[in-house]
Amino acid sequence: MRIAVVGTGYVGLVTGSCFADLGNVVTCVDVDHKKIQELKKGKVPIFEPGLEETIRRNRNKRLFFTTDLGKAVQTSDLIFIAVNTPQGKNGEVDVTNVMAVAKGIAKSINRYKIIINKSTVPIGMGDIVTQILIKQGPKDVSFDVVSNPEFLREGSAVNDLLRPERIVIGATRRSAAQKVAEIYKPLHSPILITDLKSAEMIKYASNAFLAMKISYINEIANLCDKVGADIVQVTKGMSYDSRIGSQFFNSGLGFGGSCFPKDVAALVQIGKVNHSPFRILPEVLAINQNQRKLFLEKVSQAVGNLWGKTLAIWGLSFKPNTDDMRQAPSLTILPVLLAKGAKLKAYDPAAMGKAKALIKKVKYCRNPYEAAQGAEAVLVLTDWNEFKQVDFQKLKTIVKQPILVDGRNMYDPQEMAEKGFAYHGMGRGEVSQF
Ligand code: UDX
Ligand code: UDX
Repeated sequence: MRIAVVGTGYVGLVTGSCFADLGNVVTCVDVDHKKIQELKKGKVPIFEPGLEETIRRNRNKRLFFTTDLGKAVQTSDLIFIAVNTPQGKNGEVDVTNVMAVAKGIAKSINRYKIIINKSTVPIGMGDIVTQILIKQGPKDVSFDVVSNPEFLREGSAVNDLLRPERIVIGATRRSAAQKVAEIYKPLHSPILITDLKSAEMIKYASNAFLAMKISYINEIANLCDKVGADIVQVTKGMSYDSRIGSQFFNSGLGFGGSCFPKDVAALVQIGKVNHSPFRILPEVLAINQNQRKLFLEKVSQAVGNLWGKTLAIWGLSFKPNTDDMRQAPSLTILPVLLAKGAKLKAYDPAAMGKAKALIKKVKYCRNPYEAAQGAEAVLVLTDWNEFKQVDFQKLKTIVKQPILVDGRNMYDPQEMAEKGFAYHGMGRGEVSQF
């Protein structure tokens, strides 16, 4: 099919290039001229495993890039809106970008089209887009508006799109939903067709549930710290119950990214304005922010007064396998350490380019060992696999003190003790003798 995808960010670019990979003719649109110029030359502006090859395979064959929204609308049958929907000042969703694109579509629509909201939008946004098209579009042209929320995790977005556990499509008319479903047919994944509002709700309810699961296990981890239990053993014991499962049970610094913090705050706001306020979700956010504070307390306990001391920072991105710094714990932790007079040497496999613009007065290093050189402690903020293969015997010879504060519980306390490191996890209990 001929598809336009508006917005070439983490979601739009993955969506557009994978749709092309599935055999559709896709035009990706963006207002950012520089980004489009780069993409036309095959340069990918974000780090996302598998994205570069997918774009290279399809560019100029079935995948095209433009800043001309009107032309893309007129030459497509399906138009996906995948622009960012950032958090407003008091938690509400800023839908300015979605509205702008809807207006742009209304101005250029020339025959029947299906407009699909891929971006995470508040419940009811489908109706608002419909109203914009009725009021500002040509009277004699019909259209359908569909909700097709994305469930892509950064760092595995291409895989998540091509091997989805479910496709959710919300529409007023079933025929429109079935047309959108055709794109996903080759994936042989379960396809759920609902009304617009239920599809929009599924997205928020899913993200908020996952965020809640993380904050829940972080509270259990904090209690483990006090009573001397090991949260990794606790979650392992819990996970055998299939109703609980083992996924999304990694305790530590908590969640960041462009989705969880924003989507949970949005749902709190949506609850408020619809007279069904959430009690649990504000706590999910408060617990999450507090994890950064608890980590900083651990650093002070482990190192003492930070003034003039060198600290190694391993990991800056909000999660492994991405260069995305949005709401990353490093953005709150590093400024506090600097304010306490610490000297910071940081390393991240992918995010340093973006981090340099956000966090100044940090020495950015080429590898974890260079960052650890002369450090009073190594602080792990992102659980990159690269940090699992570190040679701790070598590390011991280059740090000033063998102290490791593990914000992602990625190491085993027993092994670290045997390697001669003073290990501080988030709820890892005492080092057991057995
Ligand atoms: C995605 C989803 O769209 C959003 O709903 C979710 O909450 C976060 O992830 P994302 O792809 O991460 O957003 O946004 P971003 O990486 O900022 O890319 C958005 C792109 O849209 C940018 O390239 C921006 O230039 C473009 N854009 C924005 C337009 O093309 N037109 C606009 O009017 C506004
Ligand atoms: C999330 C949802 O998983 C995805 O379905 C949705 O479409 C977009 O938002 P993403 O934010 O890209 O994806 O990454 P995810 O892997 O979900 O991690 C989110 C945050 O939670 C990260 O900061 C990660 O460090 C943290 N996390 C994740 C934990 O703290 N513990 C875990 O067990 C898992």
